Amino acid sequence: MADSNLQTYLPWTQKPLIVNAPMAGYAGGALASSVTLSGGLGLIGGLFSMEDLRSELSIAASALASASKTDIPAIGTLPVGVGLLTFVLKIADALPVIRDFKPAVIWLFAAKELDDYKDWASEIRRVSPESKIWIQCGNVGAALHIAKVAAPDALCMQGADAGGHGYEKSAGIISLLPEAVDTLAAEGFAHIPLLASGGIVDGRGVAAALALGAKSVVMGTRFLASEEVVVHPAYQAAVLEARDGGQATKRSKLFDELKGPNVWPEAYDGRSLVVKSYKDYASGVGIEEIRRLHNEEVLGEDKGFKSGFQGRATIWCGTGVGLVGKVQSARDIVESVREETREILSELSKL
Ligand SMILES: Cc1cc2nc3c(=O)[nH]c(=O)nc-3n(C[C@H](O)[C@H](O)[C@H](O)COP(=O)(O)O)c2cc1C
Repeated sequence: MADSNLQTYLPWTQKPLIVNAPMAGYAGGALASSVTLSGGLGLIGGLFSMEDLRSELSIAASALASASKTDIPAIGTLPVGVGLLTFVLKIADALPVIRDFKPAVIWLFAAKELDDYKDWASEIRRVSPESKIWIQCGNVGAALHIAKVAAPDALCMQGADAGGHGYEKSAGIISLLPEAVDTLAAEGFAHIPLLASGGIVDGRGVAAALALGAKSVVMGTRFLASEEVVVHPAYQAAVLEARDGGQATKRSKLFDELKGPNVWPEAYDGRSLVVKSYKDYASGVGIEEIRRLHNEEVLGEDKGFKSGFQGRATIWCGTGVGLVGKVQSARDIVESVREETREILSELSKL
C-alpha cells in the first residue's frame, strides 16, 4: 500500500517537499542532483534515447556520490527520480536502465491508454521493487482509474495552467485537487498521496497547493529559469521576458503539429508561449504553410526561439511564467520557495 508520508522513503527531503518536473530534454542530471542536494526531489526527464537517460543518471549519481552521508543518507535507491513518457517508449527498453540505476522514483506520464500504467507499474516493481511509482494525470476520472489499475505510490494532479503537455480537458488545481482528494477518499484510495503541478512558481503557490490537499508540489516553468536547466539561451530569455501568463501562453494541439503530424495521444495538448506559429494559426494560415515557415526558421542559429514573441518554435511554459523574472541556482529556488512557503503558512496560522 502507498505510504502517505513521502519522507518515509525520501528521508533527506525537507517539508514542504519541492520537486522539479521531469522536463524531457531540459531537466538533466545536473538539475536533478542540485534539487535533491537542496532537500527537494530532483527528477530527470527521459525522452526516446535510453543511452541519453543513462548518461544523465550517471551525472546525477556522481554529483550525489560526493555529497556528505548526513545530507543524503543511504536508502538503497538513487535519490533522484526519472520521468518516462510511456507512449513513446517500450517497457522492455526502459527496464534495464531502471534495474541498473534504481531511481528512488519512477514518474510516468502520457500513456496511450490509462490501462497501460498497469503493465508499466508491475514490470518496474519487478526489476526495482524499492523504486516508487508516481503517475501524473490531469483529471479526476483518470486519477481514480489509475489508482484502481496501477496502485501508484503517488499521483501528481496536473492543472490546466501547467507548461508543456497536459490533458486537453483539465481544470486549474484550485478545483482539480480537492475534487481528486475527495473522490479518491470516497473510493477507498485516501492512502495515495497527491502532488500538485501547474502554475506553481513560488511560496504562495506552494502554500495554496498544500491548503488544497497536496503533500508536495512539482514545478517546471520555475526551473526553466535555473542555472542547471538545459535550455537554449533565447528560449530562457523569452521565459524571463514574458508577463501576464494567461495572455502570454496558450494551450493548443497546434504546437504538436509544427514539426510534422501530431504523435501525442488524443487526450493531450500543450501550453507554450504565444509564438508566431500560433498567431498565424489563429489568423487562419494553413498548417502546411505554418509548418514550412517553422521548419525553415528552426534551422537558424537561434533554433526559432526569439524574444518578443517573434520566434516560430514552441516555448513550452505555464501561466506562472509572468512571475518568473530571473535565473537562479536550483538551490536558491528550492530554498527560497520553501522558506517563503513556511513564512506564509506561519502568517496564515495566526488568522
Ligand atoms: C519545458 C517543459 C517540458 C516538460 N516535459 C515534460 C516531460 O517530459 N514529462 C512530463 O511528465 N512532464 C513534462 N512537463 C510537464 C511537467 O511535468 C509539469 O506538469 C509542469 O511543468 C507543471 O506546470 P508548471 O510548468 O506551471 O510548473 C514539461 C513542462 C515543461 C514546462
